[in-house]
Amino acid sequence: MLYVTWISLLLLLSNVLTASVNAHSTHALLLLPTHSHAAVSGQRCPAPDPNLNFRPVIGIVSHPGDGCSGRLSNATNASYIAASYVKFVESAGARVVPLIYNEPPEVLYKKLSLVNGVIFTGGSSKTGLYFEVVTSIFKDVLRKNDAGDRFPLLAICLGFELLTMIVSKDNNILERFSASDQASTLQFVENIDISGTVFQRFPPVLLNKLSTECIVMQNHKFGISPEKLQKTESLSSFFEILTTTADSDDKVYVSTAQAHRYPVTALQWHPERVRHKIFDLKCKCFIFNIPMQKNAFEWASSSIPHSEDAIQVTQNVANFFIREARLSTHRPPSQEVLDNLIYNYSPTYCGKAGKGFDEVYIFS
Ligand SMILES: *[C@@H]1O[C@H](CO)[C@@H](O)[C@H](O)[C@H]1NC(C)=O
Ligand SMILES: *[C@@H]1O[C@H](CO)[C@@H](O)[C@H](O)[C@H]1NC(C)=O
Repeated sequence: MLYVTWISLLLLLSNVLTASVNAHSTHALLLLPTHSHAAVSGQRCPAPDPNLNFRPVIGIVSHPGDGCSGRLSNATNASYIAASYVKFVESAGARVVPLIYNEPPEVLYKKLSLVNGVIFTGGSSKTGLYFEVVTSIFKDVLRKNDAGDRFPLLAICLGFELLTMIVSKDNNILERFSASDQASTLQFVENIDISGTVFQRFPPVLLNKLSTECIVMQNHKFGISPEKLQKTESLSSFFEILTTTADSDDKVYVSTAQAHRYPVTALQWHPERVRHKIFDLKCKCFIFNIPMQKNAFEWASSSIPHSEDAIQVTQNVANFFIREARLSTHRPPSQEVLDNLIYNYSPTYCGKAGKGFDEVYIFS
């Protein structure tokens, strides 16, 4: 009798609990692992998709100099990769092999054979060996894709400018713009279909902010206008313009482009450096942070935005690029990858001077 009473009490209690959970939200129902659909039907988690590469490795081409205005090295053959690009890749689930631009070609191309995608970083060098190496790697990227190995390329700022020069075969094609260290929006081309592009999986709210709020960071003196890109056959047949942006003189340049036939994405803006509009209590108005480096991973200036919007832009671009790299079927020997990963090098803290990149990898 006592037993039955206890059972009734428990049932009553459980009904009361269920009712109160339901009252809050029907989604608040907690399922124990044994209640999940997979367990009920006797299944474990499905095996990972065998068509995807879950260990993608990204090559980042080093840029001449020490990235630190000579504070770390004046060696004439020094080159660097800002650590923020490395963290950008890592944040989306991939690792980095540095492609040191001035290493002997056989070493450089061996390393290129170990990666599933490449980043051309920002910077300033448009001539000499660096230009030749970027050109040659770009051609190799196209060859790999033509041969059926999906191999994405993300070209950022200088990287975009170099692609413009290489694809058009015109080293004087770039135009001057006033876009040094400034905030901007991205204006989407009318009726643009963003499926398959870097913007595809941006949350709608963030996409809207990109075109209405100045949350992306521009820092360039060169670029290409949409008119010039469109009327240059080689460029318009290669690139589709996704967004444009006006500089401080209201001159419009292409801010985002995607290759028609290749997984090649070109950003004139810095996805790894973002700006943010903040409400200033003193002037009771919106002001923009204008730090030199605005980066999810750069902390040199106290005004560097680390807002959720800013970080989300960084994260979404990184996720897109690494998602593309997971489509690369190329599986290089893992020991060779380990031997060449960026973890074989140590970054140097350069940001203590309060300017420039926080951390850089220097190769010399
Ligand atoms: C590089 O040269 C500059 C200018 O001469 C000097 O101030 C700086 O200390 C040098 N850097 C190093 C790492 O020696
Ligand atoms: C740079 O020069 C130094 C000294 O000449 C040499 O030891 C080093 O291997 C060179 N580095 C590169 C990347 O060429």
